[in-house]
Amino acid sequence: MVDAEHREPPIEIRHDVPASARVYGWALGGKDNYQVDRDFALKTAPVFPESIDISRQNRLFLYRAVRYLATEGRVRQFLDMGCGLPTDNNVHQVAQKFTPDARVVYVDIDPIVLAYGRALLAGDGSTVVINADFRDVDAVLGHPDLRRLIDFDEPLAVLFLSVGHHLTDADDPRGIVRTLMGRAASGSHLAFSQIVCSEPERAADLDARMNAAGIPWQNRAREEVDALLLDGLDPVEPGLVNLLHWRPDPDQPPLPPAPEELAQFVGASRMARDMCEYGGVLRKP
Ligand SMILES: C[S@@+](CC[C@H](N)C(=O)[O-])C[C@H]1O[C@@H](n2cnc3c(N)ncnc32)[C@H](O)[C@@H]1O
Repeated sequence: MVDAEHREPPIEIRHDVPASARVYGWALGGKDNYQVDRDFALKTAPVFPESIDISRQNRLFLYRAVRYLATEGRVRQFLDMGCGLPTDNNVHQVAQKFTPDARVVYVDIDPIVLAYGRALLAGDGSTVVINADFRDVDAVLGHPDLRRLIDFDEPLAVLFLSVGHHLTDADDPRGIVRTLMGRAASGSHLAFSQIVCSEPERAADLDARMNAAGIPWQNRAREEVDALLLDGLDPVEPGLVNLLHWRPDPDQPPLPPAPEELAQFVGASRMARDMCEYGGVLRKP
């Protein structure tokens, strides 16, 4: 039962502006997107051809990170901030494959995620989707569905995967991470990734394109991400890296193929040296 203060608003989906969840979902081979999302991806990809690989590398990292957390990390509860549209091997499916009693709270600002997530999770009492802005940490932590599933006395995994770039400095990402990890018990983990770019002109161009499309965006340099995360948390081997190098596993389940329209860009990250998805897993001592 949801109390009046937390009653979900009716789901209203915008078809006239691109949405991060749908653009990213399309690059992963998903079908839940609109023309405006595909047009945006097709306009951006020729300028940032590596972006398709980078999205896909992030999603493959998600599998390896959640598997690590549910096994070696000994975590049984997950808070997935900016979870995106459901696809194959969603967090609860990976976590429960390795730890059957794992509980997962999904959070996303985009109402389409709520709509599709609820359909996927109907009847699954160990998993819930919350429609919320993760910048409002108190609202997320105070949500009754989260309070029902998450026990802050037990280790928790907080996931911010491919969402760091949606947090601008004005949002105080360091404060957000600190507040969440401050509430989490010892033995909790943070998995984090974001797009980094070491070439200032390209970084500024991508920032400008994304923000103009209504998608809050801030590229960072690797050192800026390090400064954000290496604050009382211990990185798990191999540390914060290009996600391609985070415990690679050629035998992990593959993603659905990229859509035909984007296939020409697959492989382009091999040529790119200045941009990647960067991150890793850190443990609270
Ligand atoms: C690139 S997708 C990443 C999805 C998923 N974490 C993954 O790694 O596969 C980014 C997601 O973050 C969500 N998002 C962006 N800003 C957000 C915010 N302020 N609060 C909650 N979700 C947000 C978007 O709606 C989108 O679904």
